[in-house]
Amino acid sequence: MKPVNIGLLGLGTVGQGVANILVRNATEIERRAGRGIQVKLASVRKQGKNLAGTLGIETTGDPQAIVNDPEIDIVCEMMGGEQPALDLIMTAIKQGKHVITANKALIAIHGNEIFEAARQHGVIVAFEPAVAGGIPIIKAVREGLSANRIDWLAGIINGTGNFILSEMAAKGRDFSDVLAEAQALGYAEADPEFDVEGIDAAHKLTILASIAFGIPLQFDAVFTEGISKILPEDVTFAEELGYRIKHLGIARRRTDGIELRVHPTLIPENQLIANVNGVMNAVLVQSDAVGQTMYYGPGAGSEPTGSSVVADIVDVVRALTTDPGHRVPHLAFQFDALSDQPVLKPDEFESAYYLRLEAEDKPGVMASIMGIFGALGISIEAILQKEPSNPDAQDSTVPVILLTRTVREGLVKDAIKQISALDSVIGQISMLRVESLN
Ligand code: HSE
Repeated sequence: MKPVNIGLLGLGTVGQGVANILVRNATEIERRAGRGIQVKLASVRKQGKNLAGTLGIETTGDPQAIVNDPEIDIVCEMMGGEQPALDLIMTAIKQGKHVITANKALIAIHGNEIFEAARQHGVIVAFEPAVAGGIPIIKAVREGLSANRIDWLAGIINGTGNFILSEMAAKGRDFSDVLAEAQALGYAEADPEFDVEGIDAAHKLTILASIAFGIPLQFDAVFTEGISKILPEDVTFAEELGYRIKHLGIARRRTDGIELRVHPTLIPENQLIANVNGVMNAVLVQSDAVGQTMYYGPGAGSEPTGSSVVADIVDVVRALTTDPGHRVPHLAFQFDALSDQPVLKPDEFESAYYLRLEAEDKPGVMASIMGIFGALGISIEAILQKEPSNPDAQDSTVPVILLTRTVREGLVKDAIKQISALDSVIGQISMLRVESLN
């Protein structure tokens, strides 16, 4: 049978990974797909300064040439960014081409309209490479767990952020030094703020929550907090209490709505996911029939992400002759069965909390702090009082670290407000969320 022609929008880190895999594993891939797969054309930003020649791929500086080429059946978008990627994908869909995209921002923000257009034109839009790089997490949640009611999922879904936190914790390295290394290795986004402020993780969480719970994509509803304000002492105190700090994306279904949140989180050190280090990603899923499952692997990089692109190409090739109405739904649930459930506000989140404050070292201070928690009905799990921060001063102060039991976030914020108002408490109170993940 004639090989299937694909077009690559972008021949950067991921595009080159795809091209390499397709050449190296051509025979195995053809045995799986049932047809040969050949790259007909790739678009590049800078003509001449790429590996297209060594990969034997014809290139163009005009991406429109790919989405308008009648001989190309499948378009793989690996350019990133909102435009022109969105327009190119919409054009490809309208031309009846199947699309594979690694662009998590695009799916998280414009996915609802993209999938609607794909449905109208009877084409597939696949996006495995958009979440957790090389881990086949979309397939696992959308297809492998389709017997289950999924209760929650929690993931380390940004490799750069995890690399930074891991290096800082293990080697005491400087934040910017580790970030520069992640950029050089090709893990970081063009704008690294996307990584360290949690925006990239929020894009991925939006997609995971949608396929886990059958809700529309709603990136704007995700609560997002980054890792740039984590202090080395928080890492140390967390360790003393038996926890590691990880940047988690959490989607949890409750009876009154859904929590969608990305933030630094203390996790018990004996949890498998607390030991996921470096650029590796992991997603832990709690569902009713199977219980907990965890998916681990490289969350970024040329061939790991390329592996997910090629897996999607194989899926599309296998489905080329199938009736569009009988394919796997883009967002796991049939399009008319997606249900819009309320997304809960941060004050409604339920979690345990780590608080760090600086208090005067004198009798009665702890009692007044405890009195505030008691009056609000907040139970305390652990208290750690450290050596005086300024032992030689007349009014010495001590760092106090408190862990609460699970409570509504609004109540904890009330407690913080009241404790901050005490004369014996100095400066700002730091708050981090704690999840047992049981
Ligand atoms: N910047 C992303 C990360 C790349 O570090 O995980 C993969 O999406």
